[in-house]
Amino acid sequence: MKTYIVGNFKLNFTVGEASIYLHKLLKALPVYRDVDVVIAPSTVALQPLSLQVDRHKMKLAAQNAFYRDYGAYTGETSFSQLRGLVDYVIVGHSERRHIFGEDDKFVQKKVAAAVRNKITPILCIGETESERSFGETADVIRDQLLGGLADVADDELDKVIVAYEPVWAISSTKAAKLATPDEVSEVVKLIRKTLGETYGNDAAEKMPVLFGGSVNSSNAGAYLTVPGVNGLLIGGSSLILNEFVDIIETAKRVKS
Ligand code: 13P
Repeated sequence: MKTYIVGNFKLNFTVGEASIYLHKLLKALPVYRDVDVVIAPSTVALQPLSLQVDRHKMKLAAQNAFYRDYGAYTGETSFSQLRGLVDYVIVGHSERRHIFGEDDKFVQKKVAAAVRNKITPILCIGETESERSFGETADVIRDQLLGGLADVADDELDKVIVAYEPVWAISSTKAAKLATPDEVSEVVKLIRKTLGETYGNDAAEKMPVLFGGSVNSSNAGAYLTVPGVNGLLIGGSSLILNEFVDIIETAKRVKS
C-alpha cells in the first residue's frame, strides 16, 4: 500500500506565501512513486496552486467542502466545484466538528459527496481528552468511523482514507500531549477491527489509515512504524518546509 504524507495548512499562509512554499517544495522533492505527498492550503489558494503543482510529485487537497453541488448556500464551496482542482478533501476534521459544530450526519453527507465527485475524502476521527478519560474512546471512534462511512457503497470503500487524530494530541489544543505509538496502535487496531466486522477483512486491510497529532520530523518515524499506519496528517510541522521535507524523506526510508 502507498504511504500518504498530508500537510494541512489550516488557516495559515496567504495565496502568495502558499505559492512560494509550493515552489520550494517542488524543487526539494524527487518523484516518489510509493509516497503520496499532499498539501491542503486554504480554499482561495487551490485554483492558483492547481496550475502550479506538478502532479507527478504531489497532489492538492481541500480542507473542507459542502455536500450540495450547487444552490443557495452562502459562503460554501461544493465538492463539484473542487473537481479538477484537488484529488483529496479533508472531511470531519476535529476543528470542523468542535468549532463549527459538524456532527456525524453532516460528515457522512460530505464523505458521500466527495466519493460521488471522484475526490478522495480523508475522513478524520478522534476522541477528545475528556472522552478518553471517561473510557469512551472506542465508542467515539466506532460512531465517527461508521457514521462517516454510512452513505458509501461497499464497492466504493476503497476510495476513502481514514485519519485518526486524537483531539488531545493536536498541537493547537491547550496542553496538547504526544500520543504514544502504543496508544496509536491500539486505536488503529480498533479501526481495522470495526471495518472488518462491518465490511469484511479485505475492505479493512485495504483502507489507508493515517495518524495525525503533533507529528514532527523527530517522531514521524515512530508513528510510521506503528502496524497498520499508512501515513501522516500534519498540521504545524507542514508549515515549516524543512520539517515537512524531512518527514516525507522519513516516510520514504521507513516504508521502503
Ligand atoms: P498538528 O500537527 O499541528 O498537531 O495538527 C494536526 C492536525 O490537526 C492535522 O490535520
